[in-house]
Amino acid sequence: MQPIRHVGICGVGQMGAAAAVCFKRSGYQVLVWDHSEEQLAALKPTVSALESWLDQHIGPAPHEGGSIQPQASPSSIDEQADVVLDCIAEDMAQKVDLFKRFPRCRNRGALFITTTSGLSISEMGRRSGCGHLLAGTHFWNPPHLMPLVEVIRGQDTPDPIIDRVCELVKSIGKTPVRVNRDVPGFIGNRLLHALWREAINLVEKGIATPEDVDLVARLTFGLRMPAVGPLENMDLVGLDLIEKIHQYLLADLADNHGPSAYLTHSVRQGHLGVKSGQGFYDWWSRSAEELIQKRDIQIVHQLAFLNELEGTLR
Ligand SMILES: NC(=O)c1ccc[n+]([C@@H]2O[C@H](COP(=O)([O-])OP(=O)(O)OC[C@H]3O[C@@H](n4cnc5c(N)ncnc54)[C@H](O)[C@@H]3O)[C@@H](O)[C@H]2O)c1
Repeated sequence: MQPIRHVGICGVGQMGAAAAVCFKRSGYQVLVWDHSEEQLAALKPTVSALESWLDQHIGPAPHEGGSIQPQASPSSIDEQADVVLDCIAEDMAQKVDLFKRFPRCRNRGALFITTTSGLSISEMGRRSGCGHLLAGTHFWNPPHLMPLVEVIRGQDTPDPIIDRVCELVKSIGKTPVRVNRDVPGFIGNRLLHALWREAINLVEKGIATPEDVDLVARLTFGLRMPAVGPLENMDLVGLDLIEKIHQYLLADLADNHGPSAYLTHSVRQGHLGVKSGQGFYDWWSRSAEELIQKRDIQIVHQLAFLNELEGTLR
């Protein structure tokens, strides 16, 4: 099996640009392509900004010799790539079409990986004809900082492919977690959206303001989470007590099987969050940039703490 040197990244938006930086800083030759020429042109300043932020807050790249080379078409990626990473729009038909554009990669057994947030890996593999080489690699945002990637097995993904993808994830300094079935939302988004559904419900019912819901999450269980996972926490509390609480609490929690009326109404009104200036909060008077900066600095401190404590994040 060929050692991996060339990583082809398709789609250089939010995830693709940062993923390119991760691979470059780990010494890979990264070939990038996007169907938007403007996005490709915007890549260089984005990469410079991300790299200087990382240099300043985390330190120099762990490996030298990596590069990012924009490509005019996917065919040059097809010629050289040992891995094809999909970071294009979250659309099954487009992702299937994309993977079909790499027949030579498929013939020589290159890895096919996708950052999909929740589309079926099995369906993507079957429809594109590369299911035997395909795994999900669910990076978390911001990908240049978040230390974990969920590696998702499709129905046709053999064990050796999952093993190779996990090694690739480790080689860029991240912790792979295996998801053995491609259930919607994998692991992280299932947990997160269960929490978000309840957060919306509390606001919708007028039980608390958005500010107070966020404050409770941030300053209670949110503070514990980097060190203690929810299942560890339940063991600390005692499963008998959890069982008692579930007897009266679960029946009262939000259990809507689609977007809540509150969320749909907000979207219909054009209240989309930061991008429109209004969501749960008024973003005309608040600064999203400051919030993102606070988030990123906090992640850096937290990672330094965990590394010092445990030596490894696993
Ligand atoms: N943004 C997040 O927080 C996040 C987190 C995890 C996973 N993801 C997933 O990562 C993928 C990319 O998300 P993003 O937020 O970077 O999106 P984005 O809109 O920022 O970037 C997508 C890029 O792909 C390009 N593109 C779109 N369709 C294309 C096509 N058919 N061929 C070639 N280029 C195409 C666009 O021009 C754009 O540059 C999606 O599958 C998304 O669900 C996103």
